Amino acid sequence: MADVPMPEPYTPIPYEQWLSFDMKDPGLLPEAYAIAKDGAKYIGLSTVRRLDKEPHGFHQLLTGVRNDYRGKGIAYAMKLKVIEYAQKNGIQRIKTENATTNAPMLAINIKLGFKRQVGWIAFSKTLTQSP
Ligand SMILES: CC(C)(COP(=O)(O)OP(=O)(O)OC[C@H]1O[C@@H](n2cnc3c(N)ncnc32)[C@H](O)[C@@H]1OP(=O)(O)O)[C@@H](O)C(=O)NCCC(=O)NCCS
Repeated sequence: MADVPMPEPYTPIPYEQWLSFDMKDPGLLPEAYAIAKDGAKYIGLSTVRRLDKEPHGFHQLLTGVRNDYRGKGIAYAMKLKVIEYAQKNGIQRIKTENATTNAPMLAINIKLGFKRQVGWIAFSKTLTQSP
């Protein structure tokens, strides 16, 4: 998460918080996760959730690869595995979101056939202190 381009710098969260938000999410689909390993070492993951309002849809959230393993097609391969799982399980649509500055992720999603939809604009207003 620390490497995902965001409007604001990443704030690490405690492990327990991650467990309750991520692992106890009712939409969790661990069987659809793609996890990449090099021997015993975990090097990448691509996570998915059920879409509440879309029984035949997936929401693909974090895809991440350890820095020293990037540029070798690992993220692309993991996303392909998620698509393969979705196809075998009657899923008709996968949604995902990326920052416009995340060139590698945009390249992968476009190569996989994801179509661009509405964009979100990050706003910020600087408040100067009155004298
Ligand atoms: C995004 C991320 C998962 C990519 O992982 P990866 O294993 O290096 O990705 P791959 O090797 O499968 O593919 C990278 C693709 O991006 C392309 N790419 C890389 N930098 C690029 C750039 N600046 N401009 C355009 N394309 C670029 C590569 O050429 C490659 O495409 P190709 O196979 O057609 O050549 C990895 O950089 C990462 O973990 N980043 C931090 C987490 C993050 O931002 N995740 C996405 C938000 S969910």
